[in-house]
Amino acid sequence: MHILRSIEELRLLRAQTLTSSQTIGFVPTMGALHLGHAELLKVSAAKSDVTIASIFINPKQFNSASDLAKYPRTVEEDLETCRIFNVDYVYLPEISDIYPAGFDTFITPGSLGSLFEGASRPGHFAGMATVVVKLFNIVQPNIAFFGKKDYQQLAIIRRFVADLNFPIHIFGMETVREADGLALSSRNAQLTEGERKEAPKFFEILQTFKRSFPDTNSLNEAISDALRQFGELQHFQLDYFDLAEQDTLHPSRDTNKPLVALGAILGSQVRLIDNQELQ
Ligand code: PAF
Repeated sequence: MHILRSIEELRLLRAQTLTSSQTIGFVPTMGALHLGHAELLKVSAAKSDVTIASIFINPKQFNSASDLAKYPRTVEEDLETCRIFNVDYVYLPEISDIYPAGFDTFITPGSLGSLFEGASRPGHFAGMATVVVKLFNIVQPNIAFFGKKDYQQLAIIRRFVADLNFPIHIFGMETVREADGLALSSRNAQLTEGERKEAPKFFEILQTFKRSFPDTNSLNEAISDALRQFGELQHFQLDYFDLAEQDTLHPSRDTNKPLVALGAILGSQVRLIDNQELQ
């Protein structure tokens, strides 16, 4: 496994080492790798000739300096995980490589970026989309792998890849969960003991809701029931819970369309997001 630290090294790799017939799989990450990332790396290794992973904690997608400061930094363990899962190249840039002095251009998602996480975390998706576009331009992959836990992120990436004509196939992968149902996330380590015990209820509420779907007659009842259960959580406040069309994320109650139930709950230090596709 090779570690690349500069854009020039990536350019040389693409121009001199890799051939145009090789399929390049790309797994962008912010490090603190867990088994959800491991699945992305595994599938990339199976579907691509060469897998490139990036580890870059992107300051522009954090809403506050304290959130950025708290984000776990585990580079040595992450590199070991990449080795175990047959990553060929890890791109580990410096902040100044990605955001040199004078940097002043952002990719701002349209309506897809304004609701849900976009409403709760202003600027987050512009920061995320900007770095992903930059990484796509630097790495020039054929396939890129993202988890469905960040459902809105994945929808925004699919949208800008189509809108901006990136020749990249976006592969969305199912959420990997703890045995008790909690979606894996690098932020789970920041849950208090009480929060960690209660956190699996989030997925239970989403699953109970999914089981009651698509009985349109009782849809409103099922939504009220889910909201009541969120309200009963001791350690978390509900941020949002709603149904939306899977590709546009427009809120919808039309059970003839492919819908997704999306939610976010707030603990003392961490907000958790999760979702369930309903068809
Ligand atoms: O999902 C993440 O870890 C990040 O949002 C991503 C896609 C690596 C961009 O920084």
